[in-house]
Amino acid sequence: MATSIIRPTRRGLLQGAVATAAASTIPTGWAIAQAKPLKLGLMLPYSGTFAKLGENITFAVEMLIAEKGGKLGGREIQIIKLDDESKPENGPQNADRLVKRDQVDVLIGTVHSGVQMGIHKVVRESGTLTIIPNAGANAITRALCAPNVFRASFSNWQCPYGMGLVLGKRGVKKAAWVSWDYAAGIEAAEGFRDGLAKEGGELTKILTLKFPETNFQPLLAQLPELGVEAVGAFFAGGGAVQFVKEYKSAGIKMPLCGAFLTEGTLEAQGAAAEGIETALHYGDGLDNPKNHAFRKAFTDKAKREADVYAVQGYDAAQLLAVGLEAAKGKIEDEAALYKAMRGAKLDSPRGPISISPSQEVVHNIYLRRAENGLNKVVGIAAPALADPGTGCKLG
Ligand code: PHB
Repeated sequence: MATSIIRPTRRGLLQGAVATAAASTIPTGWAIAQAKPLKLGLMLPYSGTFAKLGENITFAVEMLIAEKGGKLGGREIQIIKLDDESKPENGPQNADRLVKRDQVDVLIGTVHSGVQMGIHKVVRESGTLTIIPNAGANAITRALCAPNVFRASFSNWQCPYGMGLVLGKRGVKKAAWVSWDYAAGIEAAEGFRDGLAKEGGELTKILTLKFPETNFQPLLAQLPELGVEAVGAFFAGGGAVQFVKEYKSAGIKMPLCGAFLTEGTLEAQGAAAEGIETALHYGDGLDNPKNHAFRKAFTDKAKREADVYAVQGYDAAQLLAVGLEAAKGKIEDEAALYKAMRGAKLDSPRGPISISPSQEVVHNIYLRRAENGLNKVVGIAAPALADPGTGCKLG
């Protein structure tokens, strides 16, 4: 019975299979293990300010698996969900539960950069294949890159870099940044700074508050005195809804821009979001067949509109499918699995994407403008943008 089989290690399984498969007609440990469902851990926020982001990623992962008939590379998929609550302090322990207690074969997670660092610590040691469906922490695909960790979403640097480029090209000389005080906000500020600087502009002030606080008034009060022409911001989910509304009510004259600021939140932000420009790797109305099919299928399943988080979940699952198909379901065949994933060219709802040598997505960064409840794509801020991958030695 399958129950008597000890969970095979990746390398040991493959070697054992080669040695015994031809010699016997009795199902080998390997054959039985292959017949077992592949355990996929989803470590995501299902509560708190990022709950909707985690839900949309989950819907889209399930959607891709269903599109493939419930199997990837011939293996049934068993999903195990864990609510990480976007709490960095619990990140390592939660990742450990999935990897050691639940013995997941693959982990898809997470949304919050701080929690991702905890996951990274665990999976770099365990070697568990991990695909990131959102969290942008730069270090993961830079100095701390690892052969078993891929990112299907973005690096924190990428999108605000595109926004900075756009402002700089328009002649903006001085801009400020407002965000939560953790990796996603701070690294986004660095991208914004680099984009501006490339076109002769300057990021002159960064204002922050603790995640997930929403006491924005003291920060908003400082903005008019800064002598800047534009304000960039990183907030997402529930926090972004409140920030955009309060920025508007404060009557601040400088245009507000960002990356995720209006993503998946336009309905709740209402008129306050009208006209806000953002640079992101997705946008409403992207006219490609994959996006049309994806949006329809997502609305049918989730009963709400797709957003970038849904796209990233779908692409994380697409990337896993590419790897498992090449490895014929043998997750332990790391050579085949990783080779295929590194070379993947995905037909994403966001447009074509490829994987950089540091195992990060390369994609267009679109310029969008919020109009009548849509983040309308109005141009390309940075075509086929790769993160610099500084310090990563995988490639
Ligand atoms: C992050 O923590 O990396 C993060 C969270 C939400 C976003 C983007 C980045 O929308």
